[in-house]
Amino acid sequence: MFITFEGIDGSGKSTQARMLAETLRDQGHDVVLTREPGGSPGAEEIRALVLQGDPDRWSAETEILLFTAARRDHLERTILPALAAGKIVICDRFADSTRMYQGLSRGDLRGLVDQLHTLMIGREPDLTLLIDMDPAVGLSRAKSRNTVEERFEDFGQALQDQMRRGFLALAKEFSTRFQLVDGAHSPEDVAKDVLQRVQQQLQGQRQ
Ligand code: ADP
Ligand code: TYD
Repeated sequence: MFITFEGIDGSGKSTQARMLAETLRDQGHDVVLTREPGGSPGAEEIRALVLQGDPDRWSAETEILLFTAARRDHLERTILPALAAGKIVICDRFADSTRMYQGLSRGDLRGLVDQLHTLMIGREPDLTLLIDMDPAVGLSRAKSRNTVEERFEDFGQALQDQMRRGFLALAKEFSTRFQLVDGAHSPEDVAKDVLQRVQQQLQGQRQ
């Protein structure tokens, strides 16, 4: 099973992905926990190019190519081999992030994102957990981490607002694989909600 976490910066995706991986491992599942951009050595190199530096370092079009190149490498070297070996793959962000961040933030480039996805990736998750969160809270949580990877956070609150609305619309568009999770609770409570949705999906796949 291929599970992805999506949502705005600071919504708690990495925390929840980690907690879910631990719980599923405790239950005896073989789990690969990974992330985008990154998740393979080559894709981690591309990560530094896209997440560091000035917000206007790349155009939206160039970013689509860079994120898709990173994803292709990640898919070939990490995700597909793990799925073929029967493992559960948990990925912190995937193609839905490109649909939002590159597809919406600087003009309507969603068509281009989808075309390149069809050509080069062609794989959707079995389950996508969208952690929904007030953009102001998300941004302050994200900023408090104080890393060098703040290029997207530096686009500011307006981008976060737009991304939240976009993700909620995307959840309706892909309603069969999306599950909406309220991120405004303690990490433990959010994790319970997440686990319930994952267990439903696992049961569904066994039947
Ligand atoms: P994301 O991966 O979505 O950017 P993180 O999991 O890295 O989010 O969380 C961002 C920050 O908020 C981290 O400092 C994390 O410890 C904190 N955090 C995560 N989940 C919660 C929560 N449910 N309540 C309060 N703080 C949280
Ligand atoms: P991430 O490390 O998940 O950041 P955060 O923990 O703050 O959510 O992702 C870093 C940034 O990369 C995030 O602001 C969104 C952006 N991003 C894209 O713009 N397009 C993509 O395809 C992906 C995967 C991420």
